[in-house]
Amino acid sequence: MKALLVDNRSSRPVMRVGDHPDPEPKKQELLVKIEATALNRADLLQKSGRYPPPEGASPILGLEMAGEVLETGADADRFQPGDRVFGLLPGGGYADYCTIHQNLAMKIPEALSYEEAAAVPEVFLTAWQALSWLGELKKQERVLIHAGASGVGTAAIQIARQIFDCRILTTAGREDKLERCKELGADLAVNYKKEEFDDLIEQAEGADSVDLIVDFVGAPYWKSNLRLLAMDGRLVVLGLMGGASVDRISLVPLLRKRLTIRGSTLRNRSKKYKVELTESFRQNVLKKIESGEIRPVIDSIYDWSEVEKAHQKMAENRNIGKIILTGM
Ligand SMILES: NC(=O)c1ccc[n+]([C@@H]2O[C@H](COP(=O)([O-])OP(=O)(O)OC[C@H]3O[C@@H](n4cnc5c(N)ncnc54)[C@H](OP(=O)(O)O)[C@@H]3O)[C@@H](O)[C@H]2O)c1
Repeated sequence: MKALLVDNRSSRPVMRVGDHPDPEPKKQELLVKIEATALNRADLLQKSGRYPPPEGASPILGLEMAGEVLETGADADRFQPGDRVFGLLPGGGYADYCTIHQNLAMKIPEALSYEEAAAVPEVFLTAWQALSWLGELKKQERVLIHAGASGVGTAAIQIARQIFDCRILTTAGREDKLERCKELGADLAVNYKKEEFDDLIEQAEGADSVDLIVDFVGAPYWKSNLRLLAMDGRLVVLGLMGGASVDRISLVPLLRKRLTIRGSTLRNRSKKYKVELTESFRQNVLKKIESGEIRPVIDSIYDWSEVEKAHQKMAENRNIGKIILTGM
C-alpha cells in the first residue's frame, strides 16, 4: 500500500508518499480502506522523533481514521464489508489501509462525511475522557478549557455545553478563535496574549470559583490554575505545550482547597481502556453528533500529498479545530 513515510535523513524531517507492507487483520480486527485521517499535535512530535509509537503500534503517523470496511477477521462479527467506520488508532492513519480492533471501531453516523468523521475520534474521546472520567464533571459546574480553539478544546467546549450544561470559560490567542469558542458554547473567552486570564476570570466569576480546569499548556499556567480552582476543584493536565518545569510554587492551595490534579495520555492506554472509553463515548456523546447538536469542527482539508503544508499550519497555531488529510 501507499503511506506517508517520514524521511529523517536531513535535520528537518519531511514526509513523502511511499510503499509500505499492507496490514493484515487479526481475528478480531477489521481491514479498512482509509478515506480520511486527521492531524494531531502528537504527529508533529512523532515526526521529529520525540514521540515514538507504543510497542506493537504501526510506525506510520496518524491516530485516527474514517473509512470503509474491506475485510473482517475470522472472529470479527460486528461489521460487514462496505460499512463506514471511524475510530482511534495507536498509529497508521496516514496510509491507504489500516487494521482496527472491531470494538474500537464505530459506525459513522449517516449525516457525516468521511472527512467529518475523521475529525472526531482523537479529540472527542480525549475531551470526553478529560471532562467525564478524569475530571468528574457534574452538570452546571464551572469549567475552564484552555486552548479553546484547538482540536481537543473545540470538542471539550461542545461536550461541556451540550452534555453537562456548564458555565464554560476558555482561553485562546486570537480574536477569531475566541469568537469560535463562543459560537461553540463558551460563556467567557479570554485572549491570554492580551490579558491575564486569571485576573479576568476571578473578576468575572469570583475567587476560587472554577470546579474543573482542562489544561494543555502546563508550566506557565500552573500557578494561575491553582489560584482559580474552587474547593474540591480538579485540574486535568493533558499537554505541556508551554513548558514542563515549575519552580517555587506553593503547595498550600492543594490542601486548603482539597484539590485533585491528574495527568493523562490516551495513546499509551491499554486496548481494554480504549475499548471502554469508545463504548462510553458511543453511549453518551455520539447520539449528540448524530442529532447535529455537537458538530465536528473542521479547520481545513488537505490532499495527503500536501501533508507538509498541513503540518506547518498546525505548528504555527493557525488552525481552529481539526486539519483533515484525504485523497489516500
Ligand atoms: N494527553 C492526552 O491524552 C492528549 C490527547 C490528545 C491531545 N492532547 C494534547 O492536547 C493539546 C491540543 O491538541 P490538539 O491536537 O487539539 O492541538 P491543536 O489543534 O494543534 O491546537 C493547539 C493550540 O494550542 C495553543 N497553544 C500552542 N502553544 C501554546 C502555548 N505555549 N501556550 C498557550 N497556548 C498554546 C494554540 O492556540 P492559540 O492560538 O490559542 O495559542 C494552538 O493552536 C496538545 O497539547 C496535545 O498534545 C493530549
